[in-house]
Parts: sequence; C-alpha cells; structure tokens
Amino acid sequence: MAARIVPAKRDPIRPAPANPIVISIDGDPVAGIEGQTIAGVVLASGRLAWRRTSVDGRPRGLFCGIGVCFDCIVTVNGERDVRACQRRAGDGDVVSSQHDELPEAAR
Ligand code: FES
Repeated sequence: MAARIVPAKRDPIRPAPANPIVISIDGDPVAGIEGQTIAGVVLASGRLAWRRTSVDGRPRGLFCGIGVCFDCIVTVNGERDVRACQRRAGDGDVVSSQHDELPEAAR
C-alpha cells in the first residue's frame, strides 16, 4: 500500500496563517501571535524569569507549564495572580510582573 500524498495547498489540516498581536510587558511592547499564552509570548521575547520569590528574591518564571505550581503569576490588565501559562495573550494586554513582600508577621 502506498502512502497518499496530499499537495500542501490542498491539505485540509494546514494551519491558518498566524495573526500577530502585541502585548506590553513591564512597559515594553512585545510581539506574539494569536493563540499563544502570555508565558509563551514572554519566553519568546527572551525573558526566562519575570518575578522573584518573597523569601530569597530568587527568579521565577515558567516551571510546570500546566497551571499547578503558580510560579508564573503576573498581573494582567490590573488583575493580580494570573497564571501566565494558562492565560491566552490578547492584543493590547498590559502585563506586569509581581514581586510581593512577605507579610510583617512572617519575617
Ligand atoms: S508554570 Fe506552573 S502554574 Fe504556570
């Protein structure tokens, strides 16, 4: 049996052309494509970490990538604690990093 060859122009599962978007990350405009998560856009811009831990100030970014660890939280359009790996980026989104301090009682 021979494999069926479908010309690329007639391939029904060929992905549609990507629609470009631009979001703002800590004031910097960053380009992405429609359908990417915020984490995907941030990583594609070359940033590997976008927040710091409250105890030691260690860098954090994408860890699990599936919405479990909360290492990737950011503020999106004024909404705090958004998991960047779970939220699709929208054109014009304003994303800012979060660096929370420990509460006084925990120090
Ligand atoms: S990377 Fe773990 S919740 Fe986003």
